[in-house]
Amino acid sequence: MIGVFDSGIGGLTVVRALKEHLAEYDILYFGDTARTPYGTKSPETVIQYAIEDAEILLDRGARLLVVGCNTASSVATEVLRRRFDEPVFEVISPAVRMAVSQPRHKRVGIIGTRATVGSKVYENKIKALCPETEVYAAACPLLVPLVEEGWLKRPETRRIVKKYLHPLKLKQIDVLILGCTHYPLLKGIIQEKIGKRVKVIDSSEALACSVKEFLHDNPDIATSLKKESRCRFFVSDVTPHLQKLASSILKSTIRLEYVRL
Ligand code: DGL
Repeated sequence: MIGVFDSGIGGLTVVRALKEHLAEYDILYFGDTARTPYGTKSPETVIQYAIEDAEILLDRGARLLVVGCNTASSVATEVLRRRFDEPVFEVISPAVRMAVSQPRHKRVGIIGTRATVGSKVYENKIKALCPETEVYAAACPLLVPLVEEGWLKRPETRRIVKKYLHPLKLKQIDVLILGCTHYPLLKGIIQEKIGKRVKVIDSSEALACSVKEFLHDNPDIATSLKKESRCRFFVSDVTPHLQKLASSILKSTIRLEYVRL
């Protein structure tokens, strides 16, 4: 099984992309809804939570891990790779590769949580591949609560998105990376506010393509994963609101199962 975790329900955008590209594989999801958000917490705390999240999935049979959260990917990937034998994927490198392979990538913008932007992981990875690319990052701390509240099309959300994107628009960026797994749910508004000429990159989509490539190149691992197209969704706190929101993200009725931390 492919295990995916996030601080909450944002990682369901990663599940959505995986289901699209790897429909036959079983997926186990864990959303740490009791301790969300991670984006405002210290790297030490996020690392500790990420280890616990990974263990929840491995204990239930996951044999490949996807860190479906940019915040945890930024600070915890190396620790997870050292600690566990299973392959660990993160959402940052695939999005960076996709960004710098665009025909125009002279100026790249990144939006994410404070922790992700503060880690400078996107800048470092982009500069390592393309030193001449100018990178501009903006933390957008209000977007995660707006998504978790289901305010996906409200005028207030549109105004806040516009305000956050304004400095990046002034820099005339060519590419914008959605550096948070909650943001694909606001992709329409983000594209509208940043302008049509900017290529918007969804990190969940980029990740799904890279897992697909990996499984194609590693048939032994691919055959060891279950392929009955089944998904289970675990969370550390369940409410009717979350239940509804999770189903609306995946556009099908899903059942969130409670896991005690
Ligand atoms: N979905 C998480 C990410 O991609 C952000 C949510 C949070 O702050 O916990 O960074």
